[in-house]
Amino acid sequence: MTAVVEATDLKKRYGEFTAVDGVSLRVDAGECYGLLGPNGAGKTSIIRMMYGFSPLSSGKMLLFGQDIEKDWRVIRSRIGVCQQDNTLDPDLSVEDNLAVFAGYYSIPAARARARAEELLGFFALEKKRKAKVMELSGGLAKRLMVARSLINEPELLILDEPTTGLDPQSRHLLWEKLRALQKTGVTLFLTTHYMEEASYLCNRLMIIDYGKILVEDSPQSLIKRHVGDSAIEIEGADEALRQYLEKNRINHEVMDQRIMVYAENSVAEHIRHHFCMQRCTFRPPTLEDVFLHLTGRELRE
Ligand SMILES: Nc1ncnc2c1ncn2[C@@H]1O[C@H](COP(=O)(O)OP(=O)(O)O)[C@@H](O)[C@H]1O
Ligand SMILES: [Mg+2]
Repeated sequence: MTAVVEATDLKKRYGEFTAVDGVSLRVDAGECYGLLGPNGAGKTSIIRMMYGFSPLSSGKMLLFGQDIEKDWRVIRSRIGVCQQDNTLDPDLSVEDNLAVFAGYYSIPAARARARAEELLGFFALEKKRKAKVMELSGGLAKRLMVARSLINEPELLILDEPTTGLDPQSRHLLWEKLRALQKTGVTLFLTTHYMEEASYLCNRLMIIDYGKILVEDSPQSLIKRHVGDSAIEIEGADEALRQYLEKNRINHEVMDQRIMVYAENSVAEHIRHHFCMQRCTFRPPTLEDVFLHLTGRELRE
């Protein structure tokens, strides 16, 4: 089967600086694929190369088996892009933003109107159709951005941080809409800083840092492989525990006031019985544990 996205040894340089350093990935039809990484990891740079906004420094990018550098015009009509920043026209109404965008794809007027109606309904924007973009809340603007990116009925939808800064209601609504889209067969490629979102939506994901691949797999497999069965937070840990962890090479991180341990069930039980004199919290590990474990806890910007 032809991959929807096939990137090989992608590189992006800005002058002397290499922002994307040899990333290869493949996304199959109908998948939801997540690209994760700290600020500045290179996510947006990859996405911009994917939709033809920014030339590849080297490597290859095929969408639907066609080369982005040669067949851009054909590819363009099959993809939708929701960029990280708000690129709506602030002076136009909600419905006019959709209409103008349909014009870029030369969609016949009647078809464009019908499609706009569908999207206004799907994203619960009908009541706001006459509102100017300037008047929209962040959640509404983002919904309109995603709606607009679907005007040409794309087979691949590319979303760069679609839910950053949204309130929980807006975020969950968008999750439901993205899931519904995936059910209709649309392939999704998204970046996000919300690990819960990636766990919920993505079939597979890649974590990158400093432009390089760290890991790629399903959320569940990543959790199992990198953090194990249990995440244990131990406050006021003593020297005996530290020695036990070091000696048995158990995955852990020492922080100011506490120790985080990632362990298999048997080790978790041992810790529960021998080292939990003070406060211990046991919980199922999450993708956030994997992310922090692999990319560290230092601030990036
Ligand atoms: N147009 C540009 N010129 C120079 N440096 C850039 C440009 N765009 C991004 N960068 C740098 O490339 C790195 C990756 O940026 P970006 O792809 O936006 O990361 P992310 O989306 O993961 O936060 C960052 O260090 C950023 O400052
Ligand atoms: Mg970005």
